[in-house]
Amino acid sequence: MPSSRLTFDAWEGTYAPRMDHLRHSAVRDLFAAVSRPNVIGLSGGSPDISSLPLDEVAECARSMILEEGPKALQYGGSDGRIQMREIVCEMLAENGIDVSPDEMILLAGSQMGLDFLGRAFLQPGDTIICEGPTYLGALQAFSAYEPNIVCVEMDQDGMRMDLLEETLERLGPRGAKFIYTIPNFQNPTGVTLSLERRRRLIELSHEYEIPLVEDDPYGRLRYEGEHVPPMKSMDPSVIYLGTTSKIFAPGLRLAWMVAPKPMLAHVNLCLQGAGLCVSSLSQVMAEYYFTRTDWKATLEKIKDVYHERRDAMLDALAESFGPEVEWSWPKGGFFVWLTLPPYFDTDQMMSVALERGVAYVPGRNCFPDGRGKSSMRLAFCYEKPEKIREAIARLSDVVSDRMDLYRAFLAAGALPEPEPSAQIGAHHDAPKTLFVRNGR
Ligand SMILES: Cc1ncc(COP(=O)(O)O)c(C=O)c1O
Repeated sequence: MPSSRLTFDAWEGTYAPRMDHLRHSAVRDLFAAVSRPNVIGLSGGSPDISSLPLDEVAECARSMILEEGPKALQYGGSDGRIQMREIVCEMLAENGIDVSPDEMILLAGSQMGLDFLGRAFLQPGDTIICEGPTYLGALQAFSAYEPNIVCVEMDQDGMRMDLLEETLERLGPRGAKFIYTIPNFQNPTGVTLSLERRRRLIELSHEYEIPLVEDDPYGRLRYEGEHVPPMKSMDPSVIYLGTTSKIFAPGLRLAWMVAPKPMLAHVNLCLQGAGLCVSSLSQVMAEYYFTRTDWKATLEKIKDVYHERRDAMLDALAESFGPEVEWSWPKGGFFVWLTLPPYFDTDQMMSVALERGVAYVPGRNCFPDGRGKSSMRLAFCYEKPEKIREAIARLSDVVSDRMDLYRAFLAAGALPEPEPSAQIGAHHDAPKTLFVRNGR
């Protein structure tokens, strides 16, 4: 069929209005560009699968088919296999979360859990609260249900509780359907919510009767500093999401939600409607991996790999950028959040960056309301250190060209002098305190 015919949609006008609210994922949109050989991708949060012991994984796959093929290839129950849920309970217990398998449902990715939370809780116009910036996939999942998304600014210790309190006072008890937070090495800033704030967040969620959603894909990926206990370990009413994606393999599409039982019953109905059950094959595969290989030793090695890449990125940023550029200092996870002076538009700059061979996620994708114009998310998880250094050098060239141009226009009087509030470090869309340069 000629490609021009593909762009004509005979059903235009018949789709449900909710389709207009669905957001694109910048990461997925960039997939094609990033797969070009000359482009170094700092956009996607894909884990480094090449660090997995693939021979051991292959052995797991072989023995699971030989030993449990009839079950692994069959439909399963909608809660997920008891064996897998028991394994997850053991993992959670190591982290102070004491739950039984019947307080958990398995999902095809925590992304699915986010969608089901939207489906179970949200009417168009309902308010939800999240960090600003936040995970772009969460915005994608929630937006389908047309909520009013309120973002609370962050600093180096995560979501600011003073601003959250102001928001809650304005909204009143049950004034939002839930508060969504990524407390460990947040996507996209890399920032971790402090223990004190975790405690306060729990108090506020009770005071205002608003459920707390704790999304924790990166909790086991700490490269420095002290572990901070999950909120689920302090409060059984928290809705907790975990996943195999960053500690084993996202291709499995296997994750879990731990929540109060009546809430899980709703999520279970969503799962039945969306996919009947989670892949049995993925579950048995994960069971074999987590019980028959030394997965914790493997994870330690993989963490060393990410740690080295994080250092490569932070060092390269410090070498390449002057004081007008700021970035966060993640102690784990996959991401650095970088903010340029306010006259930058990272969406517009993207085409030039791609031409020069580097990709990032423009910051606007991480806000529901157009903020984040001069920021970007940089992922250090996937590329090797030398590629990361090269990518940051390319990015710095693109940025300094634009700065030179801006200064030339300013000198020629072709642009108004910047407002004092728009000077270095005073970005309207991200508080200065989010950033730490050349130090911790
Ligand atoms: C904060 C956050 N939540 C959820 C997900 C989705 O993970 P999963 O692969 O389990 O669907 C991601 C993936 O990057 C993420 O960063």
